[in-house]
Amino acid sequence: MVSLWCVLSLLTFLSLEASGTNPGAKVRVTQKGLDYELQISIKPLQEKIKTIQIPNMSGKTEVLFMDVSYRVSSMRIEEVLMYSTAVGLVPGTGVSLSIGKAYIGLKGNWEVEYLFIDDDGWFTLSIYDIRISTTIGVSNDGQGHPRVYAASCSASIGQVEIDLHGGLSWLYQLFDSYINSAVLNALQPQICTMVTEAINSINPHLKTLNVLAQVDKYAEIDYSMVGSPFVSYSGIDLGLKGEFYNIGQHQEPPFSPTPFSLPAQDSNMLYIALSAFTLNSAGFVYNNAGVLKLYITDDMIPSSCPFRLDTKTFGIFIPQIAKQYPGLKMEFLLKAAKEPNISFEPNLMTLEASSTVSAYAIQPNATLSPLFILNMNASVSALIYVSGLKVLGNVTLKKMNLTLNTSNVGPIQVKLLDNVAWTILNDAVIPRVNDLLKNGYPLPAIGEMNLRNTQLQILKDYVLIGTDVQFGGVDLPDVL
Ligand SMILES: *[C@@H]1O[C@H](CO)[C@@H](O)[C@H](O)[C@H]1NC(C)=O
Ligand SMILES: *[C@@H]1O[C@H](CO)[C@@H](O)[C@H](O)[C@H]1NC(C)=O
Ligand SMILES: *[C@@H]1O[C@H](CO)[C@@H](O)[C@H](O)[C@H]1NC(C)=O
Ligand SMILES: *[C@@H]1O[C@H](CO)[C@@H](O)[C@H](O)[C@H]1NC(C)=O
Ligand SMILES: *[C@@H]1O[C@H](CO)[C@@H](O)[C@H](O)[C@H]1NC(C)=O
Ligand SMILES: *[C@@H]1O[C@H](CO)[C@@H](O)[C@H](O)[C@H]1NC(C)=O
Ligand SMILES: *[C@@H]1O[C@H](CO)[C@@H](O)[C@H](O)[C@H]1NC(C)=O
Repeated sequence: MVSLWCVLSLLTFLSLEASGTNPGAKVRVTQKGLDYELQISIKPLQEKIKTIQIPNMSGKTEVLFMDVSYRVSSMRIEEVLMYSTAVGLVPGTGVSLSIGKAYIGLKGNWEVEYLFIDDDGWFTLSIYDIRISTTIGVSNDGQGHPRVYAASCSASIGQVEIDLHGGLSWLYQLFDSYINSAVLNALQPQICTMVTEAINSINPHLKTLNVLAQVDKYAEIDYSMVGSPFVSYSGIDLGLKGEFYNIGQHQEPPFSPTPFSLPAQDSNMLYIALSAFTLNSAGFVYNNAGVLKLYITDDMIPSSCPFRLDTKTFGIFIPQIAKQYPGLKMEFLLKAAKEPNISFEPNLMTLEASSTVSAYAIQPNATLSPLFILNMNASVSALIYVSGLKVLGNVTLKKMNLTLNTSNVGPIQVKLLDNVAWTILNDAVIPRVNDLLKNGYPLPAIGEMNLRNTQLQILKDYVLIGTDVQFGGVDLPDVL
């Protein structure tokens, strides 16, 4: 009794431990998604059932007071049809799959021996009104992929019709009394075996979930599943880690995902939610990789701009620059002071970046003379969209603040620099950020999945992508 308690409390502890990680991303498969899966899975299931092997059977019996030896052999399923198929969500468990009416047509050979007579021929057996009902459980395979399994399966057979070719009519009695039921007894349990095999054959497909998706040479996204799937009437919800990491070096950021729940939407097959945590972990990774910096040189300033990056321009606001460094080009180093902060409010994605701007005069011998350093906070709003299996972004500058960090050129009235700094940021930096964001970040995906009718909504703390899917190529799942 004591040890049972120990085990129970250990289990409770383990499950709390396992559910301690909030997912950074979520995926929901809706009823509509299941309906599509069913539609593409019925044919492979029918093919699977055709592979059922029915053993040769033989026996001795008495028909019309004669001793008869019979043998049926070479039985094979020629036709499988399925009607009234349906899938449904079973809250707390998984998915129910029912085939209300299936038909199996099989063909075989018969031989009989009676009163020293040998006779043989072939037959067809039509099996009508087969009902198959299964429950498919969904779980986590322990390596971050979803896993499905047949939680239950039952198959029943309605009626059978035999058609004999060759032989005498009393053979019908032989079949009706002995052979038909023997064939059905051999067939019936194998139907569920095939259904179970078909369900298991989905797992290799589910293992193609990109649990670690490479983004570029610095970052990868971990989309491994955390915790167990949650099945409700809205769909099957999978929690994914949804976290960016530096490639090969998985360091946790000083923040963690906030719990969020998906809205009750089910008009698309699939919903993918990426939380602010996912994007903020990207900022953490790129900042750690030291790549959130940009040298801004005069050639990056469009020619339409009313000023150039030189000591003449800046000498207007900071006279000592014009005096001490006349006639020189200037260069700026924009560098993140910490990881940017991305937040989602309904219909609004905002990114706030804290950075420093170091200004240099470029000496004729190419040496950089440090002039001053400003702290700059900028806030941009972002437009995000989906293209292919990637999410892309485009940002627009909204606000900017400057304060003085260090000056080597005497007192600076930072306010005077606002317009110039805004222009540099808007015309030289933002377009480059947008070029990078055009490369996009991979979404969680399985196999050769294509997205259709995709829409994106920004909600509180996460972005929700609703989409229909279509599997292309040969990599179809076998069943559901
Ligand atoms: C069943 O009978 C057929 C025809 O007699 C024969 O070719 C086949 O090998 C038999 N199958 C088995 C498993 O014995
Ligand atoms: C990020 O921005 C949001 C919204 O402005 C704010 O609530 C949150 O505290 C910020 N987080 C950090 C780490 O600055
Ligand atoms: C480059 O020129 C500047 C200013 O004339 C001078 O101070 C500096 O020592 C020079 N550096 C080199 C490496 O020649
Ligand atoms: C800049 O400062 C103003 C007022 O001091 C503040 O309202 C605004 O949010 C700040 N913007 C950024 C991007 O820090
Ligand atoms: C991206 O944003 C910039 C402004 O920052 C805008 O000029 C441009 O048209 C936008 N591009 C797209 C594809 O929305
Ligand atoms: C910039 O943001 C930081 C926090 O991210 C804040 O401490 C600082 O006061 C802000 N500076 C300006 C100029 O808005
Ligand atoms: C100057 O910038 C550095 C680097 O971001 C920062 O650590 C420091 O606090 C800033 N100093 C002032 C006076 O703003």
